[in-house]
Amino acid sequence: MRIAFISDIHGNFIALQAVLADIKRQGIDQVVSLGDTVSLGPQPKEVLDTLKELKSINIKGNHDEAILAPERAAQYEITEHLVPDLHWCRERLTESDLEFIRSFERTHEISFPNGIKALAFHGSPLKPTHIILSTTPAETLDSYFVGQTAGVFIGGHSHIQMHRRYGKKLVVNSGSVGNAFVHPYSPGNTPKLLPWAEYAIITQSGESLDVDLRRVSFDTSALLDIIKASGLPGTEWWLGQYQNG
Ligand SMILES: [Fe+2]
Repeated sequence: MRIAFISDIHGNFIALQAVLADIKRQGIDQVVSLGDTVSLGPQPKEVLDTLKELKSINIKGNHDEAILAPERAAQYEITEHLVPDLHWCRERLTESDLEFIRSFERTHEISFPNGIKALAFHGSPLKPTHIILSTTPAETLDSYFVGQTAGVFIGGHSHIQMHRRYGKKLVVNSGSVGNAFVHPYSPGNTPKLLPWAEYAIITQSGESLDVDLRRVSFDTSALLDIIKASGLPGTEWWLGQYQNG
């Protein structure tokens, strides 16, 4: 069994299309979206329609929560200057799109035929705003994963790909499809983007699982052209990205 994990698409449909073309070549049984699907980028509707067609398993990210309740953006740790982008995005979605986002799950456990379980979430199983990095202390992971029996924990949210051992278990971050960060986010530092899309594939291999962290290039100038024509509040930030190709 081969499962593709895509996360943090953030309305970047050009990047999503590049990733799905790669997924098609990989012989995947199921796609799992780990959240933060629509806000920040110029094509939220196209992203949602594609996820509906894919019949992906969908996890709810902090941005998805905030799209459903923009008045509670701060609670979901959405920086204040991004709130206009949230409203811009929500105005482009129908009631049935919002209903679809409401159906996203907090966590989802997948059992591979060899008995190993993978637990999917956005930030941590407890909270979509928890950030897990390679430097997060093991004691913090203990508190996030208390009571869980999965052998693999996989999330997104940090926009930084990661493959980390945790005792006999693994913690994986599939990275970001639409907004791959150069450095982990820290308050006050505006993120810089890498000019590619990231995702992960987990494959059963006998008694164990193989993890493949993948990087796919996409047409950044096509994305910037769509952004220029979109009227997106965050247009200026986007246009400052991908400078060094
Ligand atoms: Fe995100």
